[in-house]
Amino acid sequence: MITRRCFLFRSALAATTVLSRGGHLCGESGQSAGPVQKRLAADPQRPQYHFLPKANWVNDPNGPIFWKGYCHLFYQYSSTVFPQGPKYWGHARSKDMVCWEHLPMALSPTPGGPDKDGCWSGSAFINEGVPTLVYTGVFPQVQCLATGDDDMTTWKKASGNPVVGSPPAGLAVTGFRDPSIWREDDSCLMTVGAGFQGQGGAVLLYGSKDLGHWDYLHPLFTAPPFERHDSTLSVRYDSVGAGDMWECPDFFPLGQKHVLLVSTQGRVHNFVGTYSDRKFQAETQGLIDGSALHYAAKSFEDHQGRRILWGWVREARSDAAQNSAGWSGAISLPRVLSIDSQGGLRMDPLPELARLRGAHNRIANVEVSGLVPAPQIRGRSLEIQLVMDPGSAKEAGIIVRRSPDELEETLISYDAATQYVVLATGRSSLSRDAGGRTYLGALKLNPGEPLRLTVFLDGSVVEVFANSRTCLTGRIYPTRSDSLGVALFAREGRARLKSLDAYEMKTISRDRLTT
Ligand code: FRU
Repeated sequence: MITRRCFLFRSALAATTVLSRGGHLCGESGQSAGPVQKRLAADPQRPQYHFLPKANWVNDPNGPIFWKGYCHLFYQYSSTVFPQGPKYWGHARSKDMVCWEHLPMALSPTPGGPDKDGCWSGSAFINEGVPTLVYTGVFPQVQCLATGDDDMTTWKKASGNPVVGSPPAGLAVTGFRDPSIWREDDSCLMTVGAGFQGQGGAVLLYGSKDLGHWDYLHPLFTAPPFERHDSTLSVRYDSVGAGDMWECPDFFPLGQKHVLLVSTQGRVHNFVGTYSDRKFQAETQGLIDGSALHYAAKSFEDHQGRRILWGWVREARSDAAQNSAGWSGAISLPRVLSIDSQGGLRMDPLPELARLRGAHNRIANVEVSGLVPAPQIRGRSLEIQLVMDPGSAKEAGIIVRRSPDELEETLISYDAATQYVVLATGRSSLSRDAGGRTYLGALKLNPGEPLRLTVFLDGSVVEVFANSRTCLTGRIYPTRSDSLGVALFAREGRARLKSLDAYEMKTISRDRLTT
């Protein structure tokens, strides 16, 4: 917590220009907005450059794929917020993964069909030139296929659905969902997320010659729960909370390695390792994001051969607040994944996001001790790049969305003693509905390596990239219209700001994608 009492005030940074509004980047919406759209478009908590559906509920990104000049992104959609309705596959496309165009729903539950209670998560692939979706129908959880036309605008479910109607005989799994398919040699292989009570998660591997008949091969990979689970916290056993069920497995080659992502216990866990004889062996293990607000991540290879990852940015506010807002969730900014020289996973924001940059402000070479306001930088829609040498400070970093009286503020810092990047949202909002918390991401700086933060602020969404190896996603819901300020700080010692570049970000539509 940063207060006047804790810090020596310095207004060393001269106020120059206040950033002007960024304007908007992408094509006009052809439709006129109704009252709900107008309300959502004016909601300061609603992001203006993250992708999200026109209204209502979004969770997992599904089946990102590049096809005929467009990146297609599908997503789990419900037409109500709480209580949640059955899941549909929403659909949008983009030429640059920055500007988006909504398309008609790709998949809807079929009454009486194997997906009558919902079309849950899955993947997209091109099968001998035909766009194809694989997804989980519920209930019970079964695997289904659908094929699309060349535009990917109309989808036809396979008459043989479900193509896998039950988990492998003799395996008592905790769940059976979120399939992915790829071609290998003369077969198609499919992964399905699963797990075993009391033992941990599993990715099951299937093989097929024709996509219609699938043989269970073996587990691609299994591992025990990542965290000890306190079963006394809830009366009912929750397999995902216990780490006994892996949701949304995502398996792909990256550089000389293979990477497996699984979502469980509130986090997306990554394993980097090798794949041979249709089995995966993990060498290193990590987290895609230090926060539980980035979940169910899914990646694809784009037309330039880059591996790009999306996640579901969850809400942190109460169900009632989400209902009255009329929308919930967002899709994260696209992250480019690569393998660094140490064999670790590298995560960087998609370079094309720079197209959103508007007015720019730079501060360089400032010694930071205590609190150093940066009055020339303000906003709720910013990209901030900060390079800082933590020096002797116990903790140093940046404060954003700060009200002049400091009653609302969000801290992003480096804690040198614990070697964590910290995103503290406990004081981000005066609203009782906003569940503020502190999120931590491990970051061991090499000797002489400065802290390099890229911070994206977009309404209630905060995404932090630290030194390309740790990310933190947060939700903040400031209540005050003047909670726009920025300051630097260093606690118990001196840090040196090498540079800070702040860009006002443009919107990706005139009405925040509500039409
Ligand atoms: C992950 C998840 C998936 C499931 C989908 C349902 O968030 O629980 O396992 O397919 O959401 O919407």
